[in-house]
Amino acid sequence: MINVAILGYGNIGSGVGEVIEKNSAEIKRVLGDTLHVKYILDIRDIPGVVNDINVIVNDPDVKVVCETMGGKEPAYTYTHLALERGISVCSSNKELVDAYGVELSAIAREHNCSYLFEASVGGGIPIIRPLRESCAHEKITLIAGILNGTCNYILTNMKAGKDFATALREAQEKGFAERNPAADVEGHDTARKIAILASLVSGKKYSYEQVACEGITNITPEDFAMAESRGMSIKLLGVYDAEKNSVNVAPYLVPQTSPLYGVNDVFNGIMVHGTQVDNLMFYGRGAGKLPTASAVVSDVIECAKNIGRNIPNCFADLEPAEVSEPPAKPAGEKFRVLA
Ligand SMILES: NC(=O)c1ccc[n+]([C@@H]2O[C@H](COP(=O)([O-])OP(=O)(O)OC[C@H]3O[C@@H](n4cnc5c(N)ncnc54)[C@H](OP(=O)(O)O)[C@@H]3O)[C@@H](O)[C@H]2O)c1
Repeated sequence: MINVAILGYGNIGSGVGEVIEKNSAEIKRVLGDTLHVKYILDIRDIPGVVNDINVIVNDPDVKVVCETMGGKEPAYTYTHLALERGISVCSSNKELVDAYGVELSAIAREHNCSYLFEASVGGGIPIIRPLRESCAHEKITLIAGILNGTCNYILTNMKAGKDFATALREAQEKGFAERNPAADVEGHDTARKIAILASLVSGKKYSYEQVACEGITNITPEDFAMAESRGMSIKLLGVYDAEKNSVNVAPYLVPQTSPLYGVNDVFNGIMVHGTQVDNLMFYGRGAGKLPTASAVVSDVIECAKNIGRNIPNCFADLEPAEVSEPPAKPAGEKFRVLA
C-alpha cells in the first residue's frame, strides 16, 4: 500500500480521492500495489481533514502528495517542504509550475523524489508526459493549442450568432466561467499553459510574463461573419513557434483544414508539430473535476513506481528564455491566420 496525501480538497482534490477509490482495481493492475489516501489537508475544518502540513511531511509513510490547492502560497511552501523530505509532489497548479517549477524540480532531483504536473495543462488530456517521453527525441517546431475551455465555449456560441456578453453570461450560468472571468477571457490562463508547454519542449524557461497576450473580449459577431465568409473560424490559441522563438496568445483565424477547427464547446485541442513525427493532435476535456483528477492520478502512479528515484521532468535545468515578438498581423487584418 502506498500512502498519499491530498493538499486542498476542493474540486480537483476531492476528484483525486474519487478516482483513487473508483479505479482501485485498474491502479492495482498497473502499479502492482494499491494507493491509500492517508491524509487530506484543507483550510476548512472538516472531520478527518488535517490543517497542519507538518503532520503530513513528518509522516515517513507518506510517499506522494497531490497539490491541488492552487495559487502560489502556501502551495509553494508546502511543496518545498514535501520535496525536501523526499516526498514526491503531483500538481494541477499551473500558476505554481510557471512561477517556481524550475526551482521545485531541482529540489525534487536533489532529494531523489519527483515533481510532476500533468494536470496543469490541458486538464485530462495527456500532453505533458507525451511531450516529455514519447516526443523526447523530437524537435518540436510548433505548438498551437486551444487551452481554455471557457473561451472556447464562448467562441463556439458566438459562432452560432451570440454576442460576447450573452455568450459569457450563459457560460457563467452553466458554471463554465467564473464570476470574475478576467483570467480566462483576457488570455492569461492560456498564457500560463503555453509557457509551460514551450518550456517543456525547448530547453528554455518561458514564463507567463513573457507571453504576448490578447484575449477574446474585442471579438464581434461581424468578425465571425467575416471568418465564415472565408471558410474559417475564430479560436483563442496559445502558440509557440520555435523557429520564430515566439510565444503568444491571441484569437486566430483557423481554417477548416486544421484539426483545431472542429474543437468546440468546452473541449481543448493541442496541435504539435515535430520534424520527424509531423503533426500530432491531442484532444479532450481541458478542465473539470474528474478529467483533471485523472491526470493527477496518472502522475501519482508514475511517482509510486519510482519511489526513492527522481523522474526527470525536463524542467530542472532550464535557463530563462529570450523571447522574440510574435509575427505582426497582416496589414489591415484584425487576426493572424493559423498556418
Ligand atoms: N477546476 C478545474 O477544472 C481545474 C483544471 C485544471 C487545473 N486546475 C487547477 O487545480 C487547482 C485547484 O483547482 P480547484 O478548481 O480544485 O480549486 P478549488 O475548488 O478552489 O480547490 C482548492 C482547495 O484548496 C483549499 N485551500 C485553499 N487555500 C488553502 C490553504 N491555505 N490550506 C489548505 N487548503 C487550502 C480550498 O479551500 P477553500 O475553498 O476554503 O478556499 C479548496 O478546498 C488550481 O491550481 C487550478 O488552477 C483546476
